[in-house]
Amino acid sequence: MPEIAFINNVFMPLAEARVSIEDRGFQFGDGVYELLRVYAGRPFRLIDHLGRLEQSAHALGISLPYTQDRWAAVVAEAVSRSGFHDAKVYIQVTRGVAPRDHAVTGPMTPTVAMTVRAMTPPAPVLYDQGADVITVPDIRWARCDVKAISLLANVLAKQQAREAGVFEALFVRDGYVLEGATSNVLAIQGNTLVTPPEGPLLLSGVTRKVVLGLARQAGVVIKEQSVSEADLYAADEVLLTGTTIEVLPVARVNGRPIGAGAPGPITRLMMDRFRDSRV
Ligand code: PDD
Repeated sequence: MPEIAFINNVFMPLAEARVSIEDRGFQFGDGVYELLRVYAGRPFRLIDHLGRLEQSAHALGISLPYTQDRWAAVVAEAVSRSGFHDAKVYIQVTRGVAPRDHAVTGPMTPTVAMTVRAMTPPAPVLYDQGADVITVPDIRWARCDVKAISLLANVLAKQQAREAGVFEALFVRDGYVLEGATSNVLAIQGNTLVTPPEGPLLLSGVTRKVVLGLARQAGVVIKEQSVSEADLYAADEVLLTGTTIEVLPVARVNGRPIGAGAPGPITRLMMDRFRDSRV
């Protein structure tokens, strides 16, 4: 099945997609993005992703070239052209093409790049046994709520995790755990789910929002409050949420077992309910 690209209104095979080296996305990481899943041919939580794309673009003063209806039509057409049943859709909008100058010189036409690709989920053993994670200092900027394509700190953190032989790196700032390099983090204490509140220091995850809703429906008490590293160690369960991982149990943080060191009951419930909610 073909992996599809859509560049500035033109569909093409992914291998043929090109952008200018003078694109500010390439030069400065000056752009925003979304990654969303397609399950059984249907984009999951598309409106949430498009809403966040709008917020991110607005925060950077980039005006999105399409309405939500147009985005939805383009995503649908790309998915249909790809023929993929299950896929990941990557949407990127940069400020546009201009001779290199940090300052934004005059009006620019944003570059739209979209791809539809096969999705390989994480290994089942991670869901059965729980993942290992490490903590790393948060060296990111103070607008982590903006889903910007400049992801150097996330790239370095994820690489650190890979080199440590673990799945994810959790960012810690001033003693508080904020989120993973590509995921949000939630802890369970008794029947209470605790997760850091939305704000400029973390991304408001679409999956996080879905899981908080599912947890509430299941009678779990939700507390959006700061989570220290010590809180994580003391938690009964820790889980990660994200588009690529859905709901993923954490077995160990920095080698220290969380709870029984295996996926706990509330995490398992959330995994099941999330899977049911996709259809
Ligand atoms: N990232 N926090 C960060 C820093 C992320 O990069 C992501 C997802 C999340 C989870 O958000 P959501 O549930 O909306 O996917 C939290 C995507 C998958 C990526 O960068 O590819």
